[in-house]
Amino acid sequence: MVKKICCIGAGYVGGPTMAVIALKCPSIEVVVADISVDRITAWNSDLLPIYEPGLEDVVKKCRGVNLFFSTDTEKHISEADIIFVSVNTPTKTCGIGAGKAADLTYWESAARMIADVAKSDKIVVEKSTVPVKTAEAIEKILTHNSKGINFQVLSNPEFLAEGTAIQDLFYPDRVLIGGRETPGGQKAIETLKEVYSNWVPEDRIITANLWSAELSKLAANAFLAQRISSVNAISALCEATGADITVVADAVGKNTSIGPEFLSASVGFGGSCFQKDILNLVYLCECHGLSEVALYWKHVVQMNDYQKDEVCRAWVVASMFNAVSDKKIAILGFAFKKDTGDTRETAAIDVCKGLLREKAEISIYDPHVTEDQIQRDLTMNKFDWDHPIHLQQMSPSPVKQVTVTWDAYEATKGAHGICILTEWDEFKQLDYKKIYDNMKKPAFLFDGRNVVDPEKLREIGFIVYSIGRPLDAWLKHIPLTEDDKRKRVKHF
Ligand code: UDX
Ligand code: ADP
Repeated sequence: MVKKICCIGAGYVGGPTMAVIALKCPSIEVVVADISVDRITAWNSDLLPIYEPGLEDVVKKCRGVNLFFSTDTEKHISEADIIFVSVNTPTKTCGIGAGKAADLTYWESAARMIADVAKSDKIVVEKSTVPVKTAEAIEKILTHNSKGINFQVLSNPEFLAEGTAIQDLFYPDRVLIGGRETPGGQKAIETLKEVYSNWVPEDRIITANLWSAELSKLAANAFLAQRISSVNAISALCEATGADITVVADAVGKNTSIGPEFLSASVGFGGSCFQKDILNLVYLCECHGLSEVALYWKHVVQMNDYQKDEVCRAWVVASMFNAVSDKKIAILGFAFKKDTGDTRETAAIDVCKGLLREKAEISIYDPHVTEDQIQRDLTMNKFDWDHPIHLQQMSPSPVKQVTVTWDAYEATKGAHGICILTEWDEFKQLDYKKIYDNMKKPAFLFDGRNVVDPEKLREIGFIVYSIGRPLDAWLKHIPLTEDDKRKRVKHF
């Protein structure tokens, strides 16, 4: 019978997941622990550290009842029956596997702490995405320091998507639990299964061995990302031929074997998972000598980089006479998708950095991203975002060409062009006539999410570019020169 659960890491995964477990399992005490004092203070305040629809309600119902947020990780680890580990797994920036392999520093330090402070048997659950075979490494750390304590490591990957996390947790497509094929491993699987059985139907709980569970998470994210890169590749062809990607995607998605989800062409996928997980998969393939397989998945990331580059270079810069220096470009939306304030790997970072290299002045509006976060994102090096928040908290010197506003009308005032980079619903409702009247002419609008009706905006007077849709006569796709191609920032 599970009495207490502790989760190490109070982030986008740990926070919402534990809040829902606490709500659905009133007899279990759930504690979420983190090394970041600021994060824990925010979880205990009225202004939660992450924006997620429905989260506040769940936290308010359980906080102080059977849900607690604490920095005293050691105490709660020692008291817990089950320990979820949901810490950062950044992409390595140096050494072997740099740019692809996961850096397990934070995971290892969490495992060492568990081994040090545990006084009774524990089930340790991998929650954050980890490379395949991480469980084996964690088992080694735990058992070599265990003082006779029995540790069982389980893999229980999180499949929630930000923006819909609470609904995804309430009604999951599936819960996947992987463990050792030993009696101890099977018993641990059953114990965790009992926790989920409080609200998840039994036929949605899949049990597996550790490696299948770990690999399923990477594979699921790679498949989703691949769909986006595929639809984005077709969107480029639509622009070249005069076809419309929204029509093509609809027709393709009507095939029941394909389905309609994840077929929205965009400025490129972002988020903490897709790129990182594919890079992990690529590294795993390379380590097993599967270079052709590695190459196949690499292209999904390369296509995404191409898409982000193209929006900046071929559309914004080229259509504005190859000269955006000192021109004001308004950026509407900075988060990696709507209904989240998360900016990790958001396409907006690459587009903005591209425009800044061209010496444009940019004015950014996003309903849920702070100025501080935007400035930090635009000054941070690649892959640095995934280091614990307290390390990032030095104030960046603000990028001078960037202003951040709390209003779309303010951001677009006096601008030569607008780039819509996140599909926030409110961008569909803006008064574009008012925006147009306050802009420099000709007024350009680059819709990287297909949220506006291009025909209506053309009637107002805008020159409109919508991803994968028939172009304005003004806009003509200008292919990359070989020199441009060489200069493109590469992952590999
Ligand atoms: C993803 C997976 O969906 C989830 O199952 C996994 O557990 C974690 O990673 P998340 O990163 O929160 O979730 O967001 P998701 O909705 O998958 O979107 C990722 C990116 O793809 C966003 O930038 C989004 O805008 C983009 N996207 C998504 C598209 O460009 N087109 C689409 O059709 C769908
Ligand atoms: P995710 O999206 O996977 O939840 P986040 O970066 O949002 O990732 O959250 C990871 C959290 O883990 C951060 O708040 C970080 O401070 C925390 N963390 C990292 N290492 C440790 C550790 N050893 N002990 C406690 N918390 C940790």
